Amino acid sequence: MAFLPSSSRRTLSGSTDRKCNWPWPGSFLASVQRSTSGEEIPVSAIRALSLAAILFAPGLALADDLEAGEKVFKKCMSCHSVAEGENKVGPSLFGVVGRPVASIEGFKYSDAMKAKGGTWTEAELDHYLLNPKAAVPGTHMSFMGLKKPEDRAAVIAFLASHHH
Ligand code: HEC
Repeated sequence: MAFLPSSSRRTLSGSTDRKCNWPWPGSFLASVQRSTSGEEIPVSAIRALSLAAILFAPGLALADDLEAGEKVFKKCMSCHSVAEGENKVGPSLFGVVGRPVASIEGFKYSDAMKAKGGTWTEAELDHYLLNPKAAVPGTHMSFMGLKKPEDRAAVIAFLASHHH
């Protein structure tokens, strides 16, 4: 019976209340506040914990990105390897971030890729991987592209981690 009022309150107040349920259910927070009325410590301790979670998140983001990038790279693996000198249908992508375009000796690039010029900066890769056929018309890379910016960022971070 004790939580009945709070659950009906949740139904009545709709979506704004639902936001407050993460990561601690509002009813739980409310009960902490009630049981310690007059005493601020538990609630501020919870606030401090949430703040710590927010502050530590960026440190974890890099590792997360690499892991996510490795997953995205599965889409490239039928044609590419990140091992140095290992060309498949596509050229080895070892050290590709910062590498001149179409510069793997002995790989048969399309005329379009040879004519592109420039360097694979992160920005160039981001543009190319969004839609390879549009970015380099005539490319031999038959890949529809990565529509999600976070997928492109993750796979580029993964590629950037494979260099000398
Ligand atoms: C179906 C095979 C295939 C898939 C899948 C594929 N590629 Fe390619 N890729 C190629 C080929 C072939 C080329 C050479 C293109 C050319 O010469 O026009 C290439 C070229 C490239 C280049 C230019 C390399 C250089 O030396 O200039 C990059 C960068 C690249 N691919 C990244 C990727 C990434 C990242 C993925 C996955 C998200 C991917 N490719 C998926 C076949 C593929």
